[in-house]
Amino acid sequence: MNIREELDIRAKHVEEILGQFLPLGIGTQKTIFDAMNYSLLAGGKRIRPILMEESYKMFAQKNGVSTNAINAFMSAMEMIHTYSLVHDDLPAMDNDEYRRGKKTTHAVYGEAMGILAGDALLNYAFETAAEAFDDEEVNVSYLKAYQVLASKAGAHGMIGGQVVDIETENMPAEQVSLARLTYIHQLKTAALLEASLMIGAILGGATPEEVCIMECVGQRVGVAFQIQDDILDVTSTMEVLGKPIGSDEKNNKVTYVTLVGVEKAREEVARLSKEAVELLDELSVNSEFLREVVLYLIHREK
Ligand code: IPE
Ligand code: IPE
Ligand code: MG
Ligand code: MG
Ligand code: MG
Repeated sequence: MNIREELDIRAKHVEEILGQFLPLGIGTQKTIFDAMNYSLLAGGKRIRPILMEESYKMFAQKNGVSTNAINAFMSAMEMIHTYSLVHDDLPAMDNDEYRRGKKTTHAVYGEAMGILAGDALLNYAFETAAEAFDDEEVNVSYLKAYQVLASKAGAHGMIGGQVVDIETENMPAEQVSLARLTYIHQLKTAALLEASLMIGAILGGATPEEVCIMECVGQRVGVAFQIQDDILDVTSTMEVLGKPIGSDEKNNKVTYVTLVGVEKAREEVARLSKEAVELLDELSVNSEFLREVVLYLIHREK
């Protein structure tokens, strides 16, 4: 299996599922639907729903579980992630003009519509996840999954991380500890990766202990993912990334790269990824694909 090709195939599969849950673009407020679909359909790696589905498959196979509810949750996760990017790019935040190779939502639709499109995607994500409850087989695991989605996206999760990220801007590097940076990464980025792996596991009938291990895997992968994002911000190109490089420097953000340099930052990505793989090895399920994804992400170029 070529992991890159397999991830492309899986991303297309995620987009097919997402297509089933898109808002219909009709009504006097049509602009909001256009802006939501513009950002959702702009591409992207779709790594969170891919991880969610794989986590689900691993446990569902072991437990003989089968449910369509996973589709609604995969789509909801990508909506929340996309909204986080729409808001992250706003002038009041990172003020970036390109995302996923296209103009950012606020650059196309204006700042007010950028804010509203983000808000709408967040709300619509929960409407979408709630569609899982229409399933005849609905059970308490759906509610658990819904709770994880809500809390990991919120002030104790992704939003909380964005808050500390913004409050750390313009701080002199000597005042920013690695612990503070790790805290930011755990919340702003790892929280949604943790939620993805946890929700997949929960819907696949995993035990609380197994869900807990998946949360730890998500934390390692998420922090590594953000360090790699910060590395690419200085080493990549706009053409490859589809978003501007130098965004962190422009916003006076201290990153792992500014604190320890590119080489040490790369070592940390590899160390955390290895830890994630070791945690996967503790599970009595077939985690081969997930392991390959984690190892692939160490060297990702976009
Ligand atoms: C970008 O996420 C924001 C970070 C958390 C680093 P991705 O790198 O997953 O962005 P897309 O979805 O592929 O565009
Ligand atoms: C953003 O981190 C993480 C989010 C929660 C959106 P960055 O600000 O580094 O993400 P990019 O580089 O703009 O994708
Ligand atoms: Mg940011
Ligand atoms: Mg940004
Ligand atoms: Mg970045």
